[in-house]
Amino acid sequence: MMATTQPRSLPFESPSESVTSLNEIALDEALDISDPLRHFRTDASDFARDDEDTVVVPSQPRSILGETIRLTFPVNSPLVSISLKVDASHGCGGIAWPAGEVLSNYIAFRGVEYLQGKKIVEVGSGTGLVGLVAGALGGTVWITDQAPLLGIMQQNVSLNNLQSCVSVRELNWGETLPSDIPLPELILAADCVYFEPAFPLLVQTLSEMAVNGSTEILFCYKKRRKADKRFFTMLKKKFSWEEVEDDPNREIYNREAISLLALTKRP
Ligand SMILES: C[S@@+](CC[C@H](N)C(=O)[O-])C[C@H]1O[C@@H](n2cnc3c(N)ncnc32)[C@H](O)[C@@H]1O
Repeated sequence: MMATTQPRSLPFESPSESVTSLNEIALDEALDISDPLRHFRTDASDFARDDEDTVVVPSQPRSILGETIRLTFPVNSPLVSISLKVDASHGCGGIAWPAGEVLSNYIAFRGVEYLQGKKIVEVGSGTGLVGLVAGALGGTVWITDQAPLLGIMQQNVSLNNLQSCVSVRELNWGETLPSDIPLPELILAADCVYFEPAFPLLVQTLSEMAVNGSTEILFCYKKRRKADKRFFTMLKKKFSWEEVEDDPNREIYNREAISLLALTKRP
């Protein structure tokens, strides 16, 4: 159901020929340049292992550098089409992640009536996909991430002519919220649970941004490691949640270990 990008090969014309002419260090350097995330990635067989500290980020296409893709939501009855620059050299947020597509699809399914006029903040936006969809459907949106992602987010805002309703801000979880971002009515987060040291920081940021009982939070998550449980143990202290049940695609993405949760801040 989700749009995907095609894996790209390394920039060697014929890997087997070129590789033999490089010594090991030079090969490592070449691979690092062409595929900066490779040390963070494991192949599918690692997911089968019961070793919770092995997988840091999920398997993904080998190398995506400076491509522009087009994604349309909702997939079953297209309402909004987003051009998205993707580039893995900006960090793991530089590509479109499955949970981001699921969340984009859900908010597009809810449509303009749901998003129109709402103040919305997305955390860990990466390319900005989810926030761009929210902006294209009438929301006033702040897409946020760490400094290395701000450039690609801004390019994607411009690419879709959404400058009037989507703003880009640096927001490092656990740090003071930017003073020019208002308390949102809706917080969006997709695929933000993957790095254990960031777990308490993300909970802190969500907690500071949300108001008891009134801020809606849509949290789309792909289960990858047993250690993810620790995130939910921390989250539980500040939030309760339930699965979003009115998404017609729920069964499909549940099969891929993706869940869409609605969080509520505890009093
Ligand atoms: C797996 S990516 C998901 C990106 C996007 N939401 C999507 O679904 O395509 C996780 C994002 O969280 C951001 N992130 C990780 N740690 C962060 C932190 N401490 N503060 C702010 N953002 C962070 C990363 O930069 C990255 O863009």
